[in-house]
Amino acid sequence: MAVSTGIPDKEKIQNLNAGLLEKGYQLVYENHQLCLHSINQNYSPLVIDFVTGKSRHRRLYGGGSNQPLAKAVGIKPGYRPNVFDLTAGLGRDAFVLATLGCQVSMFERSAVIACLLDFALNQAARADDIEDVGNIVGRMRLTESDSREFLVNLKPEDLPDVIYLDPMYPHRDKSAQVKKEMRIFRDLVGDDSDASDLLNISRQKTIKRVVVKRPKGAEVLGHSRPDFQVSSKNTRYDCYLPLN
Ligand SMILES: C[S@@+](CC[C@H](N)C(=O)[O-])C[C@H]1O[C@@H](n2cnc3c(N)ncnc32)[C@H](O)[C@@H]1O
Repeated sequence: MAVSTGIPDKEKIQNLNAGLLEKGYQLVYENHQLCLHSINQNYSPLVIDFVTGKSRHRRLYGGGSNQPLAKAVGIKPGYRPNVFDLTAGLGRDAFVLATLGCQVSMFERSAVIACLLDFALNQAARADDIEDVGNIVGRMRLTESDSREFLVNLKPEDLPDVIYLDPMYPHRDKSAQVKKEMRIFRDLVGDDSDASDLLNISRQKTIKRVVVKRPKGAEVLGHSRPDFQVSSKNTRYDCYLPLN
């Protein structure tokens, strides 16, 4: 199902909140932002914003085509792969890739995360007078779907150059150090325990490679040995060639 455009309507937010409240969260539209509030924890609300703050900094001063993510997906002078980001989340990695000039199709199965992301994309598209942000989000498309279902039905002529995966990493540390966002993800979407299955399907549905983002030092996904790796300070990108 494609995510609709525009500000989410009241009814949609009410429906999502019906399921969210028991998990201790609530979506609130306030100050022209769609915010995910934690009811019981003392977290600041989660908001996706591609226009200001960290996104702006990344857009203006990010590492360009020399950054590890760019190398991992195979960006070269004059070449920008089209990328399927099958675990879109907050859309940050997709935004970096779109900033570098890639067309990025994002898939997200959590209706709440997809709603936040859809709102942020529409808000950024309306801010097209601010730097290049309208053009960047114009290269990003979101579908609310389980990407495994989408991949299974993908025709050979529609395969992407690159598939990008950043599934939840099963941290067991419940106390400190786990970032607020990761805790919220865990509360909302769980551990992505089907991620190795997603990797296996992805390897049959890409033209050039599958890239899996992992924390540095983490084991590889599903015991599958990557064909090559690109490492940075805290992150490793495991790169897999297609299986057929
Ligand atoms: C760690 S987050 C991704 C963060 C993202 N890379 C970013 O830059 O913001 C993982 C996300 O993938 C989504 N996800 C995991 N498996 C999926 C699947 N099979 N289909 C669609 N979304 C999936 C989860 O719901 C979660 O929102």
